[in-house]
Formats: sequence, structure tokens, C-alpha cells
Amino acid sequence: MNILLTGGAGYIGSHTAVELAKAGYNVIIADNFCNSSPKVIKRLEEITGKSFALYNIDVADKNALRRVFKENQIDAAIHFAGYKSVGESVKVPLCYYRNNIDTTLSLLEVMEEFGCRKLVFSSSATVYGTKAPVPYKEDMETGNCANPYGWTKLFIERIITDYSAANSDFSAVILRYFNPVGAHESGLIGEDPRDIPNNLMPYISKVAVGELEKLSIFGSDYPTKDGTGVRDYIHVTDLAKGHVCALEYAEKHAGTEVFNLGTGKGISVLEMLRAYEKACGNKIPHEFVPRREGDLAEYYADSSKAERVLGWKTELSVEDMCRDAWNWQKNNPKGYEE
Ligand code: NAD
Ligand code: UD1
Repeated sequence: MNILLTGGAGYIGSHTAVELAKAGYNVIIADNFCNSSPKVIKRLEEITGKSFALYNIDVADKNALRRVFKENQIDAAIHFAGYKSVGESVKVPLCYYRNNIDTTLSLLEVMEEFGCRKLVFSSSATVYGTKAPVPYKEDMETGNCANPYGWTKLFIERIITDYSAANSDFSAVILRYFNPVGAHESGLIGEDPRDIPNNLMPYISKVAVGELEKLSIFGSDYPTKDGTGVRDYIHVTDLAKGHVCALEYAEKHAGTEVFNLGTGKGISVLEMLRAYEKACGNKIPHEFVPRREGDLAEYYADSSKAERVLGWKTELSVEDMCRDAWNWQKNNPKGYEE
């Protein structure tokens, strides 16, 4: 089967490409490299021993996308392409609405033209907004998103759900990711942020490798186990495997189904820091600073639906996440640029 990965050169897309290739799928990647490197393709081939068709296109460009569908019999698409920086989305909201929604509309329209009826979409726990009680469950109310990025995810979920309701042969799986971290065990692919990272794990990695001076821990007075923020960190390889299960599900069921992909366990900033220190064998300089605006104290997934319906659950531990993040960081201190 031929699977199109929009944004397949990115962090989660590249790890998913590996798991799909391992499961016997033929992977076609469409990416404009606005937040990734073409060098990832060689690494994918090195890991899997397989080849990957690559289209350097803007996924919002329908003519370019038509060429991909004309040249390949695409059986299903996984839609990763989009902008993902929360802070940036607050500064340039129109860019976020334009790119994230346009790519989705173009993809759905071209899929329709070519009779492609299966879609998996990368959504986020951010759609549960700022008022939901933990653990988050798929049938909880969504909305109250804290930023434009979150709203793009919610709007896209709506678009996909409406489209699928109007087309009874269409199958959509919406995956709400919690906090993806870590890297492939080979150390050949991983997260490669272009600027100073906003997220915890890549920030710790840059401090561990000596590129940044110290970690600022945002808040030490949250009502959590040790006062620092608690999240549901999930190894990117476990997350990638979730996409293989989602595709298998989409092959057999029409309609839209939503799944949380998380471990179901909350880990604090301090717990993550300690685990990373163990993995890299060094102390990681840090200081406590005031809370970051817009942050929640604690959230994690109820992932029992994915386990029950998809037969998927996470297998890798926080130690595995830190070991693999460090392995990637130390072997590639400048990401894909070396
Ligand atoms: P990423 O930035 O590494 O990957 C996205 C890829 O899409 C990049 O390779 C980028 O070049 C490409 N892209 C963006 N706009 C494009 C366009 N118009 N045409 C073609 N390619 C385009 O991000 P990621 O972490 O791999 O995330 C993948 C998806 O998962 C995104 O939709 C993101 O919002 C979602 N998500 C990510 C996280 C996370 O923490 N990483 C959490 C929840 C959801
Ligand atoms: C952030 C986004 C969220 C997005 C997710 C993707 C915000 C407000 N939220 O979530 O919408 O879906 O990334 O993974 O940006 N922390 C520090 N110091 C740092 C960085 C983070 O202490 O330098 C803390 C945070 O306060 C938080 C935890 O680490 O408690 C995780 O932060 P982060 O990795 O940014 O993820 P989220 O805030 O969960």
C-alpha cells in the first residue's frame, strides 16, 4: 500500500516513515522543508534499507499535490504538514490559519479528486483547552484553546469530521498527541529545532550538549507532586507506531474516530531533568523562574480507547526517552546540518 505523508520529513513524520516502512508500507513524502531538512531522507533509507519517494512541494498547492497523486496510486494519507510553534502562532496568527488550514483543504480536495478515502490527522492535546479536568478523554468537551495554534487543530478536526459525515465511504482517524519526545534508537533521526527550543526536552538536550547555558524551570509552586509542571511525555517511536495502528483501523472502518496517544502517566519537569541527567551522566544546570504564561499545572491522557480499539499502547519508558534523546543530540550536535 502507498501512504502519503505530508510533512513526512519533520520530527514525527520521519519516525512514522520508519515504522510504516518496517510494517511493509510504501511511503511517499511531500514536504517543503520549511521546518525540516532534505537530509532526513538518506537517514530514513539508512535505517530501513528502503527507498522513499520525495516531493519538495507546498502541500497547499493543489497542482503540485495532484502530481503526487497522478504519479502514485495513493491509498491513504497521513497529514503532518503544518506550523507548530505555539508562541509564533500568537505573533503571526494569520500565517498559522493560512498554512494549517489551507494544507488540509487542498489535501482533502485532491484526495477526493483521486478517490483516496483514508486520512490520519495529527492533532494535539491542546484542543482540550484550558479548563478540562485530567485525565483527558476523547469525549470531553474541546475548545477554550489557549492560542491560535490550538484553534487551527480544533478547526481542522471540525473540517475533517464534517467532510467525513458527508461522505460515508470516507475514513478519518484523528490522533491527539500528548508530548512527543525522544528519538529513533539508531540516533540517525530526531528533533531538530531551528531556533532556541521552546519545549522542555529539546531545551534540556541543548543544555546537556553545552549549547545553552542552563534550563529555566517555569514555576516551582504548581499544585503538583514537586511543584513543577506535569505532562504526559510519549516516546516518538511509540507515537509513530500509533499511526500504523490508526491506518490499519482506517482500512476497516468508515467515519471519523478520535484517539488520544499518550502514556497516561504524568511526569514532572524535575523528574524529567533527573532522568536526563542519568542518561547523559552529567548534572544539567538549571534555575527556577516564574511560571510561563499560558501553561497548565498538569495534564495527561486517558489512552484506554487507543488500547481497546486500536490495540496500541506505549512500550517505552522515560529512561528510554532520555537515552534516545541524548543519543541523537550527542551524535548530531548541530542536528541535520553536520
Ligand atoms: P515538524 O515541524 O517537525 O514537521 C512538520 C513538517 O511539515 C515539516 O517537515 C515542515 O517542513 C512541513 N510543512 C509545514 N508546512 C508545510 C507545507 N505548507 N507544505 C509542505 N510541508 C510543510 O513538526 P512535528 O513535531 O513533526 O509535528 C507534526 C504534526 O504533529 C504537526 O501538525 C504538529 O502540529 C502536530 N503535533 C506536534 C506535536 C509536537 O509536540 N511535536 C504535538 C501535537 C501535535
Ligand atoms: C507545549 C504547548 C502545547 C503543544 C506542546 C507540543 C505551550 C504553552 N504549550 O506544551 O500547546 O501542544 O508544547 O508538545 O507552549 N518547561 C520548563 N522550561 C522550559 C520549557 C518547558 O520548565 O524551558 C516546562 C513547562 O512549563 C511545562 C513542561 O516543561 O510544564 C513542558 O513544556 P513544553 O515542552 O513546552 O510542552 P507543553 O507546555 O506541554
